[in-house]
Amino acid sequence: MKTFGCIGCGNMGSAILRGLAAKEGLAFTGFDRNENALAALRDDINFQPLASEKDVAEKADYILLAVKPDMVEAVLGKIAPALTRDKVVISIAAGVSQAALKEYSKKACPVVRCMPNTPAMVGEGIFALCFEDADLSDEHQTAIQEIFGTIGQALVLEEKKFNAFTAVAGCGPAYVFHFMEAVVEAAVTVGFTRKDATDMVIKLFKGSVKLADESDQHLSVLREMVCSPAGVTIAAVNHLDRTAVRGNIIDAVLEARQRGLEMSK
Ligand SMILES: NC(=O)c1ccc[n+]([C@@H]2O[C@H](COP(=O)([O-])OP(=O)(O)OC[C@H]3O[C@@H](n4cnc5c(N)ncnc54)[C@H](OP(=O)(O)O)[C@@H]3O)[C@@H](O)[C@H]2O)c1
Repeated sequence: MKTFGCIGCGNMGSAILRGLAAKEGLAFTGFDRNENALAALRDDINFQPLASEKDVAEKADYILLAVKPDMVEAVLGKIAPALTRDKVVISIAAGVSQAALKEYSKKACPVVRCMPNTPAMVGEGIFALCFEDADLSDEHQTAIQEIFGTIGQALVLEEKKFNAFTAVAGCGPAYVFHFMEAVVEAAVTVGFTRKDATDMVIKLFKGSVKLADESDQHLSVLREMVCSPAGVTIAAVNHLDRTAVRGNIIDAVLEARQRGLEMSK
């Protein structure tokens, strides 16, 4: 039995803990300065709250660092004395490099940079894992891929691709929900109740994603299938093109990547 400890049990930390909760062979523990976050986890999953960051570092084999990026240096400074070579720190902080993680943890144990996304909460996340310069044994690499593989897809990525991955997949759920909300507003505007509109849009996205996933057709062919000549869909799609929705989505992802580059340290 290995212990998986989380420091910072907010949105992402708790999403990962809840996603992993059913995994056999792992015990879960953690610390957050917000007691309500710890109480909610203790009530919902098999989770032992601890009293400090250092307690987590002492108790856990895998230490997930899920505080905001500007807290990472302080937290690693606090826990460094409790780290030993047989432990692994996994940081999900956006923009905090492997080199910075090693420096802040005083190279006391292997460190892995990871970029998750929130669908991890329902076992459908995508995780980028950086093992470059992580000083990680093959056994630890396999174990970490296996852990994250149980709550989604774990991709081993070069660190230079992290900002691009973050802009696409880390931020991606926000783009998808933004688009979904817009379709809900349109459905309410044409007369559906908000509840019916929301249920319908969730089904719409679920079904479209399943079709894209299971079909061997290109996405553009799937779109063309809906666009009959002189029909209603082509009128809507032409409006999206006239108003440069596709170009704006591309620019939004590039903005996110640029912001990630500016924040990188
Ligand atoms: N949310 C996402 O979709 C997403 C995606 C990819 C990566 N990430 C990364 O995930 C990390 C966490 O993001 P989040 O959205 O989960 O933030 P969050 O909801 O604010 O969670 C962070 C939690 O850590 C707590 N905390 C702060 N300092 C602490 C300390 N010293 N010891 C213990 N707990 C402490 C915070 O408490 P207070 O509220 O009191 O500060 C908060 O409860 C960030 O580094 C972010 O870059 C997030």
